[in-house]
Amino acid sequence: MTIAELSAERVLSVGALLGEGPVWDARDSTLVFVDIDGALVHRYDPSSGRDETFSTAEPVGAVGLRADGGLVLALATGFALSDRAGDGLERVAGFAPPSASVRFNDGEVDPWGRFLAGTMDRAQREPAGSLYRLDPTGAVETLVGGVTISNGLAFSEDRRTLYYVDTPTGQVDAFDVDPDSGEISGRRRAFPVAPEHGMPDGIALDTDGCCWVACYWGSRVCRFTPDGTLDSIVRLPVSCVTSVAFGGPGLRELYVTTAKVDLDERARAAEPDAGDLFVVSTGAAGFEPSRFGTAAS
Ligand code: BGC
Ligand code: CA
Repeated sequence: MTIAELSAERVLSVGALLGEGPVWDARDSTLVFVDIDGALVHRYDPSSGRDETFSTAEPVGAVGLRADGGLVLALATGFALSDRAGDGLERVAGFAPPSASVRFNDGEVDPWGRFLAGTMDRAQREPAGSLYRLDPTGAVETLVGGVTISNGLAFSEDRRTLYYVDTPTGQVDAFDVDPDSGEISGRRRAFPVAPEHGMPDGIALDTDGCCWVACYWGSRVCRFTPDGTLDSIVRLPVSCVTSVAFGGPGLRELYVTTAKVDLDERARAAEPDAGDLFVVSTGAAGFEPSRFGTAAS
């Protein structure tokens, strides 16, 4: 099988330390994403080219959209809610990750309106992280333990499968999902990501059921078909590719976040676009993200 080759172009020069977690907000056609280590939440409007930001008091691992228009945030040390501009930020009481050696990383609102977010070992070595689920009531449940770098999360359109990445495993896993309750079980490997492509990070599913995988240290995004065949590679001019999300008209543009935090001075000079936001039209389209606080219909 021939592998399609594409390249992404830079749309926004933000030089994020650790750009991450893009989410398309169809209500105002903007892309929300975070700079984890920069402790910033961005909102980029492709029609005007404007990028608005607000700061968080600590690193912000992930962001989700709320049904009422605000945001749900996985700050390094716990969950919080804010309005769309970051005002009125309130921490969710009663829960904190058990150790300061971990921080929140990627997250995703599930089709039942709850926020899944996982933690990672800051040193990226020990399986000290977990995947958690925040309910709109404020209750937090632990879904998975023993995670080293909790990363991409994506629910299939039929709500029967959750794809999940623990980066150092070098693979994308799948869980069975109960389509009524959203409970997950039966973890298994969905497909491997060969080391030559880099390390699997953020993911997004398209309407053909294919999985787009951001590859950290791989300067690329790879698409895998439902049977795990690699069929497309999107090249980027930067090594550390962190996450992907469909957005734009008809959700036909694939936005890609990148990072520079792990590049030394020489590598930063060689990759002046590291940390910027990229986009590519692949011919594929995605889904609108679910919103926190809205039950699936
Ligand atoms: C994390 C980084 C990590 C990378 C590895 C990202 O999601 O935020 O800290 O180095 O994954 O792929
Ligand atoms: Ca990530």
